[in-house]
Amino acid sequence: MYGINEWITKELAKHATIDLGSLVDWLETPPDPSLGDLALPCFRLAKEQKKSPQIIATELAQLFEQAPIIERAQAIGPYVNLHLDRTKAMAMWLDALAADRSFFTSTEGAGQVVAIDLSSPNIAKPFSMGHLRSTIIGTALANLAESSEYTVFRINHLGDWGTQFGKMIVAYHRYGDLDAIKQHPISELNQLYVRFHEEAKDHPELEDEARAAFKQLEDGDPKAHELWQWIVDVSLEEFNKTYSLLGTHFTHILGESFYNDKMDAVVTELEERHLLVVSDGAEVVSLDTFNLPPCLIRKSDGATLYATRDLAAALYRHKNLGASRLLYVVGGEQRLHFKQLFHVLELMGYAFAQNCEHVAFGLMKIDGKKMSTRKGQVVRLQDVLDEAIARAEAIISEKNPTLQNAAEVAKAIGVGAVIFNDLKTHRLHDIEFSLDQAVAFDGETGPYVQYTHARACSVLRKAGLLPETDSPAVSVAIHSVLAIEEHSKKDESIEQYANDATWQLAKQISQFPEMRQRALAESDPSLIAKQILDISQAFNRFYHDCPILTASSDVKSWRLALTDATRLTIRHALDLLGILHPEQI
Ligand code: ARG
Repeated sequence: MYGINEWITKELAKHATIDLGSLVDWLETPPDPSLGDLALPCFRLAKEQKKSPQIIATELAQLFEQAPIIERAQAIGPYVNLHLDRTKAMAMWLDALAADRSFFTSTEGAGQVVAIDLSSPNIAKPFSMGHLRSTIIGTALANLAESSEYTVFRINHLGDWGTQFGKMIVAYHRYGDLDAIKQHPISELNQLYVRFHEEAKDHPELEDEARAAFKQLEDGDPKAHELWQWIVDVSLEEFNKTYSLLGTHFTHILGESFYNDKMDAVVTELEERHLLVVSDGAEVVSLDTFNLPPCLIRKSDGATLYATRDLAAALYRHKNLGASRLLYVVGGEQRLHFKQLFHVLELMGYAFAQNCEHVAFGLMKIDGKKMSTRKGQVVRLQDVLDEAIARAEAIISEKNPTLQNAAEVAKAIGVGAVIFNDLKTHRLHDIEFSLDQAVAFDGETGPYVQYTHARACSVLRKAGLLPETDSPAVSVAIHSVLAIEEHSKKDESIEQYANDATWQLAKQISQFPEMRQRALAESDPSLIAKQILDISQAFNRFYHDCPILTASSDVKSWRLALTDATRLTIRHALDLLGILHPEQI
């Protein structure tokens, strides 16, 4: 894998007489471009060599002058300022890139299994913004892990169990209107739930009734189970509409109910390890040593809790699915819960507890409103997506009224806008979502990136390079690079091709492997989103500054190669983010 700086240091190392070590980390970009493309501070080397940094700089500058990629190397104080022969550097770098197949992928995860807990909405409730964010971020992380050859399990831990289903069953029998429920299952069921809480204020005995109803369900009462199953089915049907629009898939839909028969074993194991203590009638694991409140395992009536099911789930993922790394993409408000969960696993003696990570995220507000299931200011997720698609449709019909598959493209753009808007911000930050901004074709948006990709496709199509021939883009680049090298020997005015826009674009593309790696390591897809914004901006400048199709033939092939590298990089990046990339917009 090559970032261009990494590669440049390797090239320089070939000409140095001393070991440059991890000097790539030290390369700097001079604040004033007239000082050079890169600068190498020599302090650390000086220390190692027991010489003054000035002397090292002078020695290195002389040696670097010999490197083909260097036009001029100049020692200024303790720094070597490097002016690259940009054309040659780029040509050689693209060459190295083509020989290296790991530009878009790596193999670091081969043989390892990671389980990602994502989406995980509660049934009989509207899909919330939190669940949307979890779905989007989790999908991107899953794609990223797969691009590094991890085996990835995408697990939807549906909230389909717990005392709230006792409440639901009681409310259904007392106030349910079957016809209304059949028509609008989620909103009606949610209403029932809200009604239960209102009624229970004056009739606290309802709570006992609900507890008893859930106990029946837990104990496998067939009637209770049938009703519950029906609620699960209608809810999933509704959620699936959102999933198919988002293009999300799961390898496992294992709701909390799945662990109903697996919790006794967990409780027994906790007992055997002497971890359970009784507190206020409930059984808990004390987390005093971690300065945390105790983790509730079993209530006084024997009912299990959210945490108990998560314990069973973690063990199932580890023992049965073989996962060595467990990610939980869940809103920041559950921070305490996951801390407790991971510490209990640790107390139980499981080493994989160290490899459990709560991938938390902030809130998202839509046009100033919060997604809420109770209050007045309700924004329905489906409405947001529909509206985003409608706006994309309107823009397209204005921009390109004859576009063939306009409806499909509008869907890709509307949904992509919502996804990109989420992923471009670091997940821990709150997001103010404005439909107008997210769907705009300019600015830091999904449509802007998709449009840039389509623009690159259009250039390539006109050049007869799309649909893709079987030669991958980067190897097309090689041929043009060779041609250019030939050319540059004859023509001193080569500089005109390697103008600033070209160089900037190549540099931005070259950052991709490093960003992919970091995004995976830090569970941060925003690094990828930001990188494709930079690439898109650089490409649009290049497109504006440098004629491609009308350039002389060798310049043209060189620019086409860069165009193709742009197209491929954006396409791969959007794939990672879970966003479609139509070739025509
Ligand atoms: N259903 C939960 C909620 O909506 C989220 C579940 C997250 N995953 C987990 N393994 N606890 O709050």
